[in-house]
Amino acid sequence: MKAAILGYGTVGGGVADVLYENKEQIAVRAGEAIEVKYILDIREFPGDRFESLITHDFEQIANDEEVKIVCETMGGLKPAYDFTKRLLESGKSVCTSNKELVAAHGPELIRIAKEHNCNFLFEASVGGGIPIIRPLLSCLTADRIDEIAGILNGTTNYMLTKMDKEGCDYADVLKEAQEKGYAERNPEADVEGYDACRKIAILASLNYKKTVNYEQIYTEGITAISTADFAYAAKCGKNIKLIGMCKEIGEKKYAMVAPFLIGDDNPLYGVNDVFNGIAVHGNMVDKVMFYGRGAGKLPTASAVVSDVVEAAKNIGKASEIVWDDEKITLDDKNELTFAYLVRVSGFEKDSDYKTVFEGAKYVGNNTAEDEFAFVTEAMTEGDFLAKFAALANAKKFVRVMM
Ligand code: HSE
Repeated sequence: MKAAILGYGTVGGGVADVLYENKEQIAVRAGEAIEVKYILDIREFPGDRFESLITHDFEQIANDEEVKIVCETMGGLKPAYDFTKRLLESGKSVCTSNKELVAAHGPELIRIAKEHNCNFLFEASVGGGIPIIRPLLSCLTADRIDEIAGILNGTTNYMLTKMDKEGCDYADVLKEAQEKGYAERNPEADVEGYDACRKIAILASLNYKKTVNYEQIYTEGITAISTADFAYAAKCGKNIKLIGMCKEIGEKKYAMVAPFLIGDDNPLYGVNDVFNGIAVHGNMVDKVMFYGRGAGKLPTASAVVSDVVEAAKNIGKASEIVWDDEKITLDDKNELTFAYLVRVSGFEKDSDYKTVFEGAKYVGNNTAEDEFAFVTEAMTEGDFLAKFAALANAKKFVRVMM
């Protein structure tokens, strides 16, 4: 069976390597050998072991009847969206690592694939090498999944881990993440939470079988998190993680992305460095945890190639993925319940925080910042925001995962 790769960057290069290095195992699992016939890229790769496969002409791939499966590893929407549509319309399955494409056009591309008896698969778009989409769709089928909460972005998890364990400050750790190639020169998508937002939108949509529009999801990144927050978190026996979550309570559905204090009773507490972790709660199975490398060349390529195997096993047959383009209106996140770490200017003794926040517990002070902090009892976010606004000298807050 012939395959093609669109984009010979980090992930595309990994896909070529995985298909080549593991060709025997892959042939057994797919039922036949899978050979890369073309790699599309605008650049030349003199001396590369796959140099002879490089083409600059998308039409060559689109018009080649022999090519049955195409890996889209270009990223971005243009031209990935048009290319993917064209390929699916000509009956070729597409396996992508592109969460932007999936979050923006998932239901349409799944529909087109079904109409043309081929597959649009996207295991690598969430959690890199972690199998999460196929387990959610094919394994956890006996349950009503009422909560998915995950560390879905490796770059920010690396940064937060460094801030927590080494006391590095945000600007230094961002610089280091950029030097190591984890964070982009423009780190906005990672540090503002947009990447995690798209990933939780995909998981929530697959869970609810309808579209959770990522633009509707309340998203806070990590740019306001400081070493002072970590110092207070440590006093509470907790660390801080950027969490993407979706939650169903009765008929209500919620999704949000924000930094949270989490304790060691939470399985996400131990997910450090560039690793991702996704905790799924089902009403029968209880908690299931997925852990692994959420980014990187070979882990992400491993997930793309697992889709290639799936597509190869299902040539001429569309998968059963249900993701309707009907949009879900999310409920107001102010109805959700958390506790809150609150930082207040001045001295504890001069503040009426215990009157405003009944049951609040003092955490400690920070003379360098001329402030103290406390943790509230669990309350709805709506109630909390009203009280926070009413508290004199309140500076900032970080949510505490319940
Ligand atoms: N920038 C992403 C991350 C890459 O750091 O997790 C993988 O989606």
